[in-house]
Amino acid sequence: MVITTRNNLNAETTLPERLPRHVAIIMDGNGRWAKARGLPRTEGHRQGTENLRRILRAAVEFGVEILTIYAFSTENWKRPRAEVRVLMSILEMVIDRELDDLNQEGVQIRHIGEMEGIPQVLQRKIHTAKELTKQNSTLILNVAFNYGGRDEIVSAVRKIVEDGVPADQIDEALISSYMYTSPLPDPDLIIRTSGEMRLSNFLVWQGTYAEYYFTPTFWPDFNREEFLKALVEYSNRTRRFGKIDEQLSNRDVP
Ligand code: IPE
Ligand code: IPE
Ligand code: MG
Repeated sequence: MVITTRNNLNAETTLPERLPRHVAIIMDGNGRWAKARGLPRTEGHRQGTENLRRILRAAVEFGVEILTIYAFSTENWKRPRAEVRVLMSILEMVIDRELDDLNQEGVQIRHIGEMEGIPQVLQRKIHTAKELTKQNSTLILNVAFNYGGRDEIVSAVRKIVEDGVPADQIDEALISSYMYTSPLPDPDLIIRTSGEMRLSNFLVWQGTYAEYYFTPTFWPDFNREEFLKALVEYSNRTRRFGKIDEQLSNRDVP
């Protein structure tokens, strides 16, 4: 079966047959994109935000069900105060400017990460965005903001203890249910732009069996075609989940 889609120019694109349901992206390289052009880092973040719009549209077009984006890590607080402020105001601006359109397009906005520490005004905006879009189902957009994979595990363990869960009831499914991402499935594909090949504390628990795709392209330049390339590469991978080839009937099933 060949699946085709039409992009904004109405050109037909042939999509690979095996698409990831859940794609996660480490949107990296905004600063270097700007530096290479003699621009302030802020301009890189601004362009990166514009790009997010394009990639969101492409995700809908390609039929991706869940898109998780790494926007601000628990480690990013260590950046200069002025840059942290800019990154906070960018998310505020995106919500103000895009929320109605995203809602119209059927995007369900979720947040993963720690609310504590995020400025109050922004916390309220995140809450409004989540509430307004919670019934939408075209695409789930999971925004990792003030997110850290280890922090997520620590907070899950705390909640498990607070709930008084007996030790013999603790298994992988229970721990998953305490993660910020619950009840969403684990990511099938994790993309990182900018040439860095590390997780930087992203989806530590959920990414154990994801396929990884690294590209040297900086985030503001990671366009629809580059996204499609990642999906094609994913479709050519064999996911074994510990088994051997002869045991695999459906390559996507663990
Ligand atoms: C990604 O780009 C955006 C965030 C981490 C918020 P960077 O700001 O990390 O850009 P580089 O890695 O310095 O180029
Ligand atoms: C990871 O990028 C976090 C986000 C993309 C939001 P960083 O640029 O912060 O990662 P490191 O510090 O280079 O590992
Ligand atoms: Mg970076």
